[in-house]
Amino acid sequence: MKRLVVLVSGSGSNLQAILDACTNGSIQGQVVAVISNRPGVRALIRAVQSGADAITIDHKQFASREEFDQAMQMKIDGYAPDFILCAGFMRILTNGFVEHYSGKMVNIHPSLLPKYTGLDTHQRAIEAGDSHAGATVHFVTPELDGGPLIMQAQVPILADDTALELSKRVLAAEHQLYPAVTRLLCEDRLCLIEDKVMIDGRKLQFPEQMDNTSA
Ligand code: GRF
Repeated sequence: MKRLVVLVSGSGSNLQAILDACTNGSIQGQVVAVISNRPGVRALIRAVQSGADAITIDHKQFASREEFDQAMQMKIDGYAPDFILCAGFMRILTNGFVEHYSGKMVNIHPSLLPKYTGLDTHQRAIEAGDSHAGATVHFVTPELDGGPLIMQAQVPILADDTALELSKRVLAAEHQLYPAVTRLLCEDRLCLIEDKVMIDGRKLQFPEQMDNTSA
């Protein structure tokens, strides 16, 4: 069983999808701790209900980004995790922190990276007239939303979609995508070697495309 620490800032619906997959045995792992930089968020309640440690490290209590990241790192390392999963974690991380977890930390981003790093991804995809949107799981590197891409799930953009409608469709796909990638990690089938993503010993040229047509 791999030990997982999940970093959150909000609702935690991706966290819940991972917790459920651990419970039903499709992920050979256990979420040992959930850390939020925001107090009182729903993700912390989900953590408590699952039996994981629910920890708040409020970034507003720290004078600098470095001090906040150091506090996070000490807490995370106390759990000796195999992997760190960012799931709606809305803080930019320092290079030192990211490099400390090189190859062990992944993030889910609500766009088909490399398109639309940063915020407002759904609105930007609609305004660009794209036919599809989606989500991407990638290894975390110092470049924001720029780490090596692992897997994507696509959904169609429908005529007259609002950003809210599209975000719900993407989020439903995220709930399939993130557990699928976590499962590969926990089965030692996915790793990062010299900035290249390897799945089952095969070097990925492009991110895997998830078959989420049943979503
Ligand atoms: C997701 O859309 C994720 O891609 C983005 O933030 C959102 C988090 O949602 N990074 P939740 O907290 O998992 O419900």
